Amino acid sequence: MPYLSQHHWVDRIAGWLYWWKHAREEHERGIPLTAETGRKLEGCKDWTWNMALDPRMTLRPMALADVPLLDLWDRQPHVIAATSDNPDQPKAFGDTYWPDELALTAPDNRYVIAELDGRPIGAMQIIDPCTEQTHYWGEVEPNLRAIDIWIGAADDLGKGYGEMMMRRAFQVCFAEPAVTAIVIDPLASNTRAHKFYRRLGFVPEDRRLFGDDDCLVHRLTREAWRQRFPND
Ligand SMILES: CC(C)(COP(=O)(O)OP(=O)(O)OC[C@H]1O[C@@H](n2cnc3c(N)ncnc32)[C@H](O)[C@@H]1OP(=O)(O)O)[C@@H](O)C(=O)NCCC(=O)NCCS
Repeated sequence: MPYLSQHHWVDRIAGWLYWWKHAREEHERGIPLTAETGRKLEGCKDWTWNMALDPRMTLRPMALADVPLLDLWDRQPHVIAATSDNPDQPKAFGDTYWPDELALTAPDNRYVIAELDGRPIGAMQIIDPCTEQTHYWGEVEPNLRAIDIWIGAADDLGKGYGEMMMRRAFQVCFAEPAVTAIVIDPLASNTRAHKFYRRLGFVPEDRRLFGDDDCLVHRLTREAWRQRFPND
């Protein structure tokens, strides 16, 4: 009966997804895999890890018209928590005034809005950390890109949109042949983001203070990106 068999397949897919998530988490925590799990996980990679990037996700330059939305996002607790270890902070990014920030836009300092089917869901900053004018990263090698990412509404978290945004940004960054790697600087306390970045192929490399912020720098090399997302 089609009705019953549909349910059968829903259950099978749900069970498989549950197994896959669990197995990957164990793998990421360094728990040794059995030969059987290892083989299955390798098989999954071909199927899920290489899934095409969703065409509904696009990046466009941030504009002054986005400022009210950015101000709203700056007051969301998950965005504040990602930018400061101070629990009393009323808004994210300190006293950033977005119109001033946008005036600093340059080829080596770009702000973009991520849209899903035309709906703005988050923002990113993509810089050349070696040349951008604030020298936030200090002494750093050339030919890198650094990315900051935040999803605005809590309802949009945990749905895979962050991965889509990052994959679009990787395409933008690595389209420039000279770029060798992408670096990011999540707060050391932002362990959920660390897990997110490791899943994308980033490797933690250095604990560093940026001003008062205690951060764990991660790096994604061009080779790791190619291996992780061969079809992007
Ligand atoms: C980090 C972030 C961009 C990830 O995007 P996302 O769409 O939520 O991520 P995905 O759906 O692709 O993956 C979900 C994973 O993201 C991670 N994550 C990080 N912060 C999270 C949050 N506040 N809520 C939910 N998931 C979060 C978790 O590891 C989660 O995996 P889990 O469901 O197994 O716990 C997004 O959570 C975010 O904007 N967080 C706040 C800002 C931030 O931390 N930016 C990074 C600073 S460098």
